[in-house]
Amino acid sequence: MRTQVAIIGAGPAGLLLGQLLQRAGIDTVIIERKSRDYVLARIRAGVLEQGTADLLDAAGVGGRMHSEGQVHEGFSLAFDGRQHRIDLKDLTGGKTVRVYGQTEVTRDLADARDAAGATTIYQAEDVVLADFDGSAPKVRFTQDGAFHEFTCDFIAGCDGYHGVARASVPPAAIQLFERVYPFGWLGVLVDQPPADHELIYANSARGFALCSMRSATRSRYYIQVPTDERIEAWSDDRFYDELRRRLPAATAEAVKAGPSIEKSIAPLRSFVAEPMRFGRLFLAGDAAHIVPPTGAKGLNLAASDVRYLSDALIEHVSEHSEAGLNAYSTRALARIWKAERFSWWLTSLLHQMPGASPFEQRMQLAELDYLSQSRAASTVLAENYVGLPV
Ligand code: FAD
Ligand code: PHB
Repeated sequence: MRTQVAIIGAGPAGLLLGQLLQRAGIDTVIIERKSRDYVLARIRAGVLEQGTADLLDAAGVGGRMHSEGQVHEGFSLAFDGRQHRIDLKDLTGGKTVRVYGQTEVTRDLADARDAAGATTIYQAEDVVLADFDGSAPKVRFTQDGAFHEFTCDFIAGCDGYHGVARASVPPAAIQLFERVYPFGWLGVLVDQPPADHELIYANSARGFALCSMRSATRSRYYIQVPTDERIEAWSDDRFYDELRRRLPAATAEAVKAGPSIEKSIAPLRSFVAEPMRFGRLFLAGDAAHIVPPTGAKGLNLAASDVRYLSDALIEHVSEHSEAGLNAYSTRALARIWKAERFSWWLTSLLHQMPGASPFEQRMQLAELDYLSQSRAASTVLAENYVGLPV
């Protein structure tokens, strides 16, 4: 079998790339390890930058995002028993973010792909990438015990941090940069109205907490927990009790508890692989980089990679130019490293590092106090949060 671009992974990066290429008349096949239901049920990110929203519009899938997503003009920082609002719109000359869940983005993209009649192969096992250093790369896999092989012009590795694409590259050809944080986020999804109409990021002596949401009736809460924490140790009651203790009194009172409809622990990691191109194999999204979720950048970085890669592939097919393909890795990495820096900085500012000295804790509070008083410092935060230029 033949296709122009074989895409590994049906997460947001793979589905969005597939949709943009399909609309430009480029034939794609998406090969995914899990089932469609499994992929669509994963609860992850919630905040979209304007550039991501624009790209979803360009892909023809922005309809429900506009009607059901919420535009947020700011968020709050809670610390030292008080709360300070960061006015994103005012500080950035009119820019905002959108709260619309990754599950919804993925559903919109998967539905559009089905409607276009494009091929997505779910539950593909033993996926192998071959010959991407030559002119006819191949992707092999089995499905229901039967062996399949696609020959293609390009492979897009959109298969996330644990995927096969990055692992297929000879170790000598790739450089990895990593920081693993000694804590994770315990997240709860609940059908109750959010504590506030905007997000609240809290630094407390007991650890970080985040009040987020999916809609006016569905809330998403997170608390910092040690990496080795067991999910079974956290009843809903214990979770809400700990969450409230990390928030200013008025906000704690506004948290409406309810039975969790999802509860999970995500480890926190910073990670970058360089370069992002190996012959005819291109990495995009979590396959190439991970950020801790504090800055809400993971999904948005996947989208900006896809923007650069889809432009380059479309230019290659329509104008026979290699320029965009040759520039892809450098262009993408320039934006990725800035988002890595922002996510690392905000994580360091808001979390309790195990073993941090009282001096370091005072440094966090001094910086938060400075942020709340200085327009210059708030502008730096706001400019990064709404997303740097693509
Ligand atoms: P993924 O979403 O990981 O998709 C990769 C796809 O490839 C998956 O469907 C996977 O099943 C498939 N795959 C893997 N291996 C293979 C294989 N061998 N063959 C075929 N297919 C394969 N970001 C935020 O901004 N805010 C958050 O709150 C947030 N929370 C997160 C919580 C968790 C637990 C995780 C893991 C990530 C979170 N992120 C968050 C990050 C954000 O969700 C990711 O950045 C985003 O999903 C990246 O999309 P992607 O398509 O690159 O990768
Ligand atoms: C979420 O709602 O899941 C969310 C929001 C903001 C973040 C991270 C996660 O920074």
